[in-house]
Amino acid sequence: MESNWVIEEARPENIPAMIEFWQEIDGVGLGRSDEPWALEIMLTNNPGSCLIAWQGETMVGTILGGFDGRRGMIYHLAVSPPWRRRKLGKVLLERCLKVMRQRGAVKVNLFVYRDNSGAITFYEGLGWVQREDIHAYSWDYPAGFEEN
Ligand SMILES: CC(C)(COP(=O)(O)OP(=O)(O)OC[C@H]1O[C@@H](n2cnc3c(N)ncnc32)[C@H](O)[C@@H]1OP(=O)(O)O)[C@@H](O)C(=O)NCCC(=O)NCCS
Repeated sequence: MESNWVIEEARPENIPAMIEFWQEIDGVGLGRSDEPWALEIMLTNNPGSCLIAWQGETMVGTILGGFDGRRGMIYHLAVSPPWRRRKLGKVLLERCLKVMRQRGAVKVNLFVYRDNSGAITFYEGLGWVQREDIHAYSWDYPAGFEEN
C-alpha cells in the first residue's frame, strides 16, 4: 500500500467518524469526554492541534492535542493497524506538538495504559520520559453535580 496520507484539522462534522475509528483501536480508552458535545468543545478550544490523517476518504490516524494555557496534553493518538510503522504516528505527534508550542506550551503530558507496550516504546523512542515522581490523580464529576 502506498502511503500518501493527508493530515487535516479535525472538524465537528468528523466527530461521529472519529468515535467509530477509536472504537476499533486497542489502547484508546473512550469515556464521557468522547461524547460528541464534549469533543466539539475540544476541537473549538484547540485550533490546529486536533488532527486527522486521511488516506483518500478513509480515516487512518488521529490525534487530539489540548493546550490549557499551561500544559499541553495529548489524547487519542491512534493509527489504523494496516498503516502502522510508517511514521504516521510520529508525524501526527510532531504536527500537534508544533501547533501547541506556537500557542505557548512549553511542556506536554500524556497518559498511556501500563500494558500498552507498543505505545510506550513509541513514546520513549521519541524522547518522552516516564515520570517516576508523580502520581496521576483523576476526579469524575458525579451525575447532578451542576444542580448543587
Ligand atoms: C502508538 C501508535 C500511535 C504508533 O503509531 P505508528 O504510526 O505505528 O508509529 P510510527 O511508525 O511513527 O513509529 C515510530 C517508531 O516508534 C516505535 N514503535 C511504534 N510502534 C511500535 C510498536 N508497536 N512496538 C515497538 N515499537 C514501536 C518504532 O521504533 C517506530 O519506528 P520503526 O517502525 O522505524 O521501528 C500506534 O501503534 C497506535 O495507534 N496504537 C494504538 C493506539 C495507542 O495505543 N495510542 C497511544 C495511546 S496514548
